Amino acid sequence: MKDLIIIGLNDLSKEILFFIERINIVTPTWNILGYIDSQTESGNSIDGIPVFGGYESARDFADAFFVCAKENPALKKGVISLLKDYIGRKINYATIICPSAAISSKAKIGEGSVIGEHCVVGPNVLIQNHCLVGSLSSIGTGSVIQDFVRVGSGAIVSNRVKLGECCDVGIGAKILDCSSVGRNSRVGIGAAIAKDVQDNCVVLRESSNVAKFAAPSSGNRDRLVIFGSGGHAKVVADMARSYYEEVIFDTDNSFFLNEGMIGSYDAFVGIGDGKIRAKLIHRLESMGILCPTFIHQGAEVSEGAEIGGGTVIMAGAAVNTSAKIGKGSIVNTGATIDHDCLIGDFCNVAPGAHLAGGVEIGNYTIVGVGASIINNVTIADNVIIGSGATVIKSIATPGTYVGVPAVRI
Ligand SMILES: CC(C)(COP(=O)(O)OP(=O)(O)OC[C@H]1O[C@@H](n2cnc3c(N)ncnc32)[C@H](O)[C@@H]1OP(=O)(O)O)[C@@H](O)C(=O)NCCC(=O)NCCS
Repeated sequence: MKDLIIIGLNDLSKEILFFIERINIVTPTWNILGYIDSQTESGNSIDGIPVFGGYESARDFADAFFVCAKENPALKKGVISLLKDYIGRKINYATIICPSAAISSKAKIGEGSVIGEHCVVGPNVLIQNHCLVGSLSSIGTGSVIQDFVRVGSGAIVSNRVKLGECCDVGIGAKILDCSSVGRNSRVGIGAAIAKDVQDNCVVLRESSNVAKFAAPSSGNRDRLVIFGSGGHAKVVADMARSYYEEVIFDTDNSFFLNEGMIGSYDAFVGIGDGKIRAKLIHRLESMGILCPTFIHQGAEVSEGAEIGGGTVIMAGAAVNTSAKIGKGSIVNTGATIDHDCLIGDFCNVAPGAHLAGGVEIGNYTIVGVGASIINNVTIADNVIIGSGATVIKSIATPGTYVGVPAVRI
């Protein structure tokens, strides 16, 4: 029997214990020495298994094998590198494969990786180190799963798929032949991926609905802080809950920034007023934090469109090919932005507003509820288009414009 230490004390560590139990029934292999957990005091014991305390206690177990039970791939990567620094020597990591998993003799599985019950791992599959393949998942022929990837239970990864380092595939997701998912990207529960997903993206439903993370602020995709607490913030929170485990509001717009807590959260500014939104986004930028782009799973966004960080595309909205939208803007519920439109930073295209092809809109401009703008019109910065207005001529001067056709008031 080989001695094993489980790093982390959570639901996954309990699942790993269950896997060990199953393996040992078939072939007695692992002798559980205990847990290492930085949050639990040494001397405790959980279900009769001792807890040795923080990472430094790993030094006392030179000959043991380790397995890391951190669920979040980025956190797992951090723990493994921390442990390397603490121990200062090579650590033996266990490869744990459940007895009911069907693994091709031509597949390779790296150290620290865990393969759950009833998984199928096909020929020429390479699963690198510290991966987790949840029970009932299948990995098709020739697929490559890089370090620290988590594949949720029941996911189907087809043939010759590439999953980049630290990517996180949700429970029951399906990834079609030859597709790839980039590093640090996250595929939602039950999502279907038929095309390549770039690095640092979140895909909620299908490959065409990609929430791009311009640059994740914390690397910890589980937690999001939304600045603001009004109606707009609530709608943003509602969509963000599909892929963040914890979504909280910073109601006075400063607590997180002033308390230095922002580092462990992704950040999004959910404030309807464009000027205040801009101020906060600029402040975050000055701290090196870029907000993600959120695209509701019920929005249709062309792959040929470009959308900046801190911009949200709400449910039922459509953004057509070659449209470009700046940062910190809002494309609200059911609004449409047609091909080749150029929308600046910190704008708000209100619910049900329609922009025909080739419309250009400057920074801080608001297009009111249900307004229409005909094709190839240019609108300056700081313009307000009233609700229901129809804009048929370019607007070069900031101000408020209402009516059909729209005139300045
Ligand atoms: C255009 C708008 C900004 C004007 O607001 P305001 O500066 O407070 O102006 P007032 O309400 O005092 O109205 C001024 C005049 O314009 C008229 N007016 C206001 N909004 C109008 C509109 N959408 N269409 C036609 N006329 C309008 C008013 O009837 C009033 O006319 P009067 O002087 O003859 O009585 C506002 O009415 C509007 O439509 N805002 C858009 C709201 C929106 O879509 N928000 C997005 C939320 S996501």
